[in-house]
Amino acid sequence: MSWSKTFEELDKSVHDRNSFDCGELELNVFIKTQAAKHMQAGISRTMVLPSNIPLLNNKFSICAFYSVAPSSISRETLPAKLAKKLPQYPIPVFLLAQLAVHNEFHGHGLGKISLIKALKYLWEVNHHMRAYAIIVDCLTDSAQQFYVKYGFEVLCEYRGRTRLFLPMKTVEQLFNQ
Ligand SMILES: CC(C)(COP(=O)(O)OP(=O)(O)OC[C@H]1O[C@@H](n2cnc3c(N)ncnc32)[C@H](O)[C@@H]1OP(=O)(O)O)[C@@H](O)C(=O)NCCC(=O)NCCS
Repeated sequence: MSWSKTFEELDKSVHDRNSFDCGELELNVFIKTQAAKHMQAGISRTMVLPSNIPLLNNKFSICAFYSVAPSSISRETLPAKLAKKLPQYPIPVFLLAQLAVHNEFHGHGLGKISLIKALKYLWEVNHHMRAYAIIVDCLTDSAQQFYVKYGFEVLCEYRGRTRLFLPMKTVEQLFNQ
C-alpha cells in the first residue's frame, strides 16, 4: 500500500476509518468516531491522505490525517515581547487539533509532509481570515519533540498538555518565497 498524491476532506463513504492505527488511542478514536461528527457540527475540518489502492470493501485506507479549527489565546500566555504589541481581548489563532500517520508509514517522511500540508492549508485560510499563530496541544513528549523540530515554541500548559505555537509570520516566510 502507498499513499495518493493529495489530501482530501474526510468522507465516511470513501475513507476506511476503522483500519486507521497510529499507535495513539486518542487519535485513533478521534478519526473513527469524532472527526466526521465535528465536521458536521461545523467545529473543525479533517483532511485525510488516502491510500492509492482501495480495500476489499472498496474504501480507501487513511495513511495520514490532520484536523484544524479556529481558536483563540489570551495575550498573557505569549512572551512579553510579543504580547505588548497585541490587544487585551482574545487573540485569534488556528488550532492544529490533530495530526497522525498510520503505523505502517511511520519513519518515511509522511509526518513531515502532513505537517507541511496542514501549515500550507492554514496559510491559505489566513489569506481570507487572519490569525496570529498556529497552536498545537501535544498529546505526548514525543509529539512535542516532533513539532519543536519544525520551529514550534512552548506557549503554556493547557489542560495538562504542553501548548506550542508557531507565529503566522513565520509560516508566511516559509511559503512566501
Ligand atoms: C508524530 C508522527 C506524526 C511522526 O510521523 P512520521 O511519519 O513517523 O515522521 P517523519 O518520518 O515524517 O519524520 C520527520 C522527522 O521528524 C522526526 N520525528 C518523527 N517522529 C518523531 C517524534 N515522535 N519525536 C521527535 N522527532 C520525530 C524524524 O526523525 C524525522 O526527522 P529527520 O527528517 O531529521 O530524519 C507519528 O509518529 C504519529 O502519527 N504518531 C502518533 C500520533 C501523534 O503523536 N501525533 C501528534 C499529536 S499531538
